[in-house]
Amino acid sequence: MLRIALAGLGTVGAAVVQGLREGADLIASRAGQSITLQAVSARDKKRERACDISGVRWVDDPRQLAELSDIDVVVELMGGDEAAALELAEAALLAGKHFVTANKKLIAEHGVKLAHSAEAHPVQLSFEAAVGGGIPLLKTLREALAGDEVEKLYGILNGTCNYILTRMHSRGIEFASALSEAQKHGYAEADSGTDIKGGDTAHKLAILVALAFGMAPDLTSIRTEGIEHITPLDLQFAHELGCRVKLLGFARRSQKGVEQWVGPALIPEISPLAQVDGALNSVLLHGRRTGDIILQGRGAGGAPTSSAILADLIDIARGFKAPAFGIPAGRLGKIKAVEPQPRRHYLRLQVNDRPGVVAEITGILRDEALSIEQLLQRGKTQNEGVPVTIILHEGEGVVVRRAVKKIEALPTILAQPNLMAIEDYQP
Ligand code: NAP
Ligand code: HSE
Repeated sequence: MLRIALAGLGTVGAAVVQGLREGADLIASRAGQSITLQAVSARDKKRERACDISGVRWVDDPRQLAELSDIDVVVELMGGDEAAALELAEAALLAGKHFVTANKKLIAEHGVKLAHSAEAHPVQLSFEAAVGGGIPLLKTLREALAGDEVEKLYGILNGTCNYILTRMHSRGIEFASALSEAQKHGYAEADSGTDIKGGDTAHKLAILVALAFGMAPDLTSIRTEGIEHITPLDLQFAHELGCRVKLLGFARRSQKGVEQWVGPALIPEISPLAQVDGALNSVLLHGRRTGDIILQGRGAGGAPTSSAILADLIDIARGFKAPAFGIPAGRLGKIKAVEPQPRRHYLRLQVNDRPGVVAEITGILRDEALSIEQLLQRGKTQNEGVPVTIILHEGEGVVVRRAVKKIEALPTILAQPNLMAIEDYQP
């Protein structure tokens, strides 16, 4: 019998408890032994739960779960990397208990230290649920692609943002209402700013990069932008250009180093990622030998995420052993960050509609040797100005951003410009 203790009984925790109860027989057959929930902890003992915890021991302080002598695995589903989650992880591994979590922030920020501890004690540190909810992304990288070398990966890694962008695009719903719907579905983090400002995607990207490239997660080298500035107008323009707007996490390695960024981007409608809607996630992995592999599925929500947690528990029950990041923690490389390769860019400006304004903008672009592929100007209003959308031919991000800063300083520019990369797709 594999005995587990669980910290956190929210969206994911409750789904895990339910999954363990409902699937007990099948899980035992697959695991080769039964998996039983011995103890639970959360903040509020009196809170009504979306799962049945009758007969399970309640522990007030989650950190005490690591000290229980009748526990083999501690599962952490509280969130954050604050004292509680980090201390529980450290104490559990130190006590020789396997540790399973869905906490991407904890793993992106402290995963290497925890992986060292897991190897020293020696137990499993598992976090399949931390990236892509129910999609077996980490297993694919660590096991199925162990014989390949991933050169590039990118995709939609945040269900909340994808849900918001989808609802804004298909129903014309305002950003705030779409976010509130995502929260009701249980997709968003306790602090939804982590989702919409791109931080959650950056945490997941850092973990994917570690497994794909064998390099320690490095959040500091990920340029991160969120979706707060995207308006229905941007989604409409993107549509007219035959594209969709998605929040992407992107990483590519070359001889020079690793390019990593998170931000909203236009992707052509022919790209398989363009059709990925709602809370779905999708990641394209490009292997040197395998070429493109696309994984897609439910990236957020209790049920899909609980499936990944249960799979980690079954692996442990089967005696599966593998380094958390695919290679021993001490052999993980250090990322040498490089600037993104040149790309086409989308730039939307809100300008004062008077003669000469477009000449001022194009003058700045000319001075930076940036060439225009398309320019669209729509409508005419006295006070709010008019939107001007420019598609730029391939240019280096750093040069494009420098030009946009100069354009933003023009007195005729009425609002913060909206700049997005265009991630072209070759089938
Ligand atoms: P949630 O619904 O907010 O639930 C969090 C649970 O942890 C609650 O039961 C809460 O207790 C408990 N908790 C929080 N801080 C605590 C503390 N300091 N001490 C004791 N208990 C504490 O969160 P969630 O959506 O289930 O997410 C849990 C984790 O899974 C997070 O790391 C998240 O990033 C990750 N994740 C979530 C999803 C998803 O779709 N939701 C998907 C993949 C990964 P009370 O209930 O008593 O307040
Ligand atoms: N808040 C996260 C999301 C949960 O929306 O994708 C899944 O990791």
